[in-house]
Amino acid sequence: SKLQIGVLVGSLRKESFSKKTALYVSSLMPDTFDMKPLEIGNLAMFNQDYDDEGKTPGEWTTFREEVRALDGVLLVSPEYNRSIPPVIKNALDIASRPYGKNAWSGKPGGIISVSPGKLGGFGANHQLRQAVVFLNIFLLQQPEAYIGDIASLFDEKGGISNQGTADFLRIYADAFAQWVLKFRG
Ligand code: FNR
Repeated sequence: SKLQIGVLVGSLRKESFSKKTALYVSSLMPDTFDMKPLEIGNLAMFNQDYDDEGKTPGEWTTFREEVRALDGVLLVSPEYNRSIPPVIKNALDIASRPYGKNAWSGKPGGIISVSPGKLGGFGANHQLRQAVVFLNIFLLQQPEAYIGDIASLFDEKGGISNQGTADFLRIYADAFAQWVLKFRG
């Protein structure tokens, strides 16, 4: 059966460049990989009381089970004020709890940050890295992926005409696929 990769996107925007990047990279993965977008916009803000008082939201339980079943995770995010968008941190936090039941632990992962600017979301990339390393996700270290000028990258069909970036994302997808395969079984 196919390897199940959860795709976590740090933006809920309909026309999100992060989402377009995630779809583009997903399309480059070998067909032995099932790239599954994870729904995170419906997750209530983390509050430990919900778990402690036996009032865990159903969406949290579904999400935690979805994450636990994954063979790997691809995170694609923009940068907000040189930091991580809260929606992606909330999702990471929810599946890291209750204490001792971190659903992310031991899975291979990759991070791609995007930005309309030139810095490619470096700040968000490394803050995500900090949290994700702590969660015991084994991150692909090279190549790093900071995608700048994202607002002019995609055509209406989600394609990329900039050959350098298209080539780079193919290299990234290949490296990520190889990385996930190292953890199989
Ligand atoms: C931004 N943006 C932004 N970009 C950046 O490179 N560094 C930053 O620190 C910020 N800060 C920031 C804060 C907030 C609150 C917003 C809404 C936006 C711009 C951001 O990269 C741009 O809106 C992207 O298009 C957002 O990603 P999606 O929604 O296209 O995936």
